[in-house]
Amino acid sequence: MKKILVTGGSGFIGSHVVRLLVNKYPNYLIVNLDKLTYAGNPENLSDIEKNSNYRFVKMDITNEKAIFKLFEEYKFDGVIHLAAESHVDRSIANPNEFIFTNIVGTLNLLNAARSIWKEGSGHNVFYHISTDEVYGSLDEEGFFYEDTPYDPRSPYSASKASSDHIVRAYYHTFGLPIKLSNCSNNYGSHQFPEKLIPLVINNIKNQKPLPVYGKGENIRDWLWVEDHARAIDTIYHNGKIGETYNIGGHNEWTNIDLIHLLCNVMDHKLGNQTGHSKKLITFVKDRAGHDMRYAIDATKIKKDLGWQPSVTFEQGLEKTVDWYLENQQWLKNVTSGAYLKYYNEQYNY
Ligand code: NAD
Ligand code: DAU
Repeated sequence: MKKILVTGGSGFIGSHVVRLLVNKYPNYLIVNLDKLTYAGNPENLSDIEKNSNYRFVKMDITNEKAIFKLFEEYKFDGVIHLAAESHVDRSIANPNEFIFTNIVGTLNLLNAARSIWKEGSGHNVFYHISTDEVYGSLDEEGFFYEDTPYDPRSPYSASKASSDHIVRAYYHTFGLPIKLSNCSNNYGSHQFPEKLIPLVINNIKNQKPLPVYGKGENIRDWLWVEDHARAIDTIYHNGKIGETYNIGGHNEWTNIDLIHLLCNVMDHKLGNQTGHSKKLITFVKDRAGHDMRYAIDATKIKKDLGWQPSVTFEQGLEKTVDWYLENQQWLKNVTSGAYLKYYNEQYNY
């Protein structure tokens, strides 16, 4: 039985990756290691938690001793590393946790993998999941390619860039069998409602203001989370050791256009008159150092590995809106307590 460690499997993307692997590979043991921060929710995996090929371990990747012990115990064949502090606004409010988790945590996992994988074992993979934000900010033209120089501009993206460099250094220096991917903005079910799309859906449902940073002209390239999970499965199994793959939806939207679209979809679903939800749009102070535009060129993964998005944005968004409307209890559970405190501090409402 192949043993694969997925870190951050109780978070947004991680839970989709764990679900896909557990269901698709009954002969793999999938071990989900997660600290269960505010963003980690065991409820995200309630549908597969009783499967015999799934295990959950509550652990902090910054705890070096515990990580080494776990690797000794399980002797993992592979690692898919998603655990991270992931929200840019939180990294501006409090950068420290991003440095500990995203850099030191990654280093601990690399060292632990190195300690159990003897040279030449052939089948091991350390797969590090990263972001397009490491490439910086684009003007109106151009795309991020795999060889675009790094230019991170927030504490979050700087911590991810740093961990990417360390992962590559372990390949070049120690021959650790690594793979890396840098993905654009994900959307879909189970995303914590501090991120734009679920925040807007949740606020429209509750008739709260829709906070637009600056003029809403910043551009993001959106990909359905289940397509990202499929790309991760493809790269883990078929990607080349030492290589990086960019993943994106070729789907650029200004924030304001995206919010208008969401307002229309929500008005339709809730039986409101068109234009009802747009009245909630509120322009607020811009994010500090707000990157203008992200856009991924995903030619390499399409050409070399045959991956491509399976849904259009309209289809993915509709599935997403339906999921949040059908899972109001999930939203209520995650928006109590700590979330409310963060939300009030961030938006000053
Ligand atoms: P998320 O915040 O929803 O989930 C992160 C998970 O990591 C949570 O379950 C949390 O409990 C866990 N975690 C945090 N600190 C930990 C620690 N010290 N030890 C163990 N577990 C810890 O994040 P996400 O949006 O699912 O992102 C997952 C990964 O994908 C991150 O590495 C992120 O940088 C990357 N990524 C995200 C996006 C996106 O649009 N969300 C796009 C590209 C790449
Ligand atoms: O590009 C990949 C990245 O996408 C990931 O690495 C990050 O983990 C993920 O959080 C996401 O980062 P963004 O900063 O792009 O996502 P966020 O949802 O926070 O914001 C999307 C855009 O919407 C951004 O331009 C800021 C803007 N925004 C966001 C919020 C939360 C608003 O205008 N208002 C808001 O309230």
